[in-house]
Amino acid sequence: DSDSVDSYYETVLKLTKEAGKLINEKIKIRNKKREIKSSNIDLVTETDQAVEKLLIDGLSKEFTTHKFIGEETVSSGGALELTDAPTWIIDPIDGTLNFVHSYPHSCVSIALFINKVPEIGIIFNPMLNQLFTARKGQGAFLNGEPIHVSDTKELSEALLMLEGGTSQEPERMNAVCENVKNLLPVVHGLRSLGSAALNMAMVAAGGSDAYFEFGIHIWDIAAGELIVREAGGVVIDPDGGDLKRFSRRVLCASTQELAEKLARKLVQVYPEPDA
Ligand code: IPD
Repeated sequence: DSDSVDSYYETVLKLTKEAGKLINEKIKIRNKKREIKSSNIDLVTETDQAVEKLLIDGLSKEFTTHKFIGEETVSSGGALELTDAPTWIIDPIDGTLNFVHSYPHSCVSIALFINKVPEIGIIFNPMLNQLFTARKGQGAFLNGEPIHVSDTKELSEALLMLEGGTSQEPERMNAVCENVKNLLPVVHGLRSLGSAALNMAMVAAGGSDAYFEFGIHIWDIAAGELIVREAGGVVIDPDGGDLKRFSRRVLCASTQELAEKLARKLVQVYPEPDA
């Protein structure tokens, strides 16, 4: 019921702010210790692990039956299963490569799904103090002020976000280059924040108009999905169909018209799904 979602929301907000303090302390360190995950450009630091632990320990202490899908837990062999049970989907630091370089665009991304439906979405960049929040049916906010997507319908008017991504797999990298080549001449501009979640938050806030990526995971987009939808935008599969949360593909846009025009133009990649 809504009383319990209120208490889930208050608790997660408090823990997210604590996580933000930790990230703010650690970002200043140069030459951070890091380990390689799936590729040379897919990294994990002690802070990713510490933030994930802080969030999972804090939430599971209060809500003993809740389940978790956490990026670093899954990377070290944890389960990746979304059931009807309340499930927190956590990326402790989205934009780890930025964090490693002390480039101040990283965030905690955390969402709560109940019956496989997103109820809470939070994206917090503590370096720039940007707190994006949404609850199902209640709109989306940046630091407590309502946000809304733009009304852009044309590619020629769109500020489009994309990413180089974290795998060096040639087919995927090629598609990134082809998409840049095809889109750069037709859109207003291309941007990249280095964090899937922050790109989605920027579409939600109307600062950019669309974003797509092949190779993301559910924890990169779980909070962004709710925040973009609550801000009036669309989140779909990059081929124009419905979003498939484990397909490792996402496209979000300010309007359905823009989403469809972008989907038709994309060179597509279909990574091995996560589940
Ligand atoms: C990555 C970032 C990056 C995107 C990758 C993600 P991580 O998340 O969001 O911008 O291109 O697809 O995996 O690894 O920093 O949490």
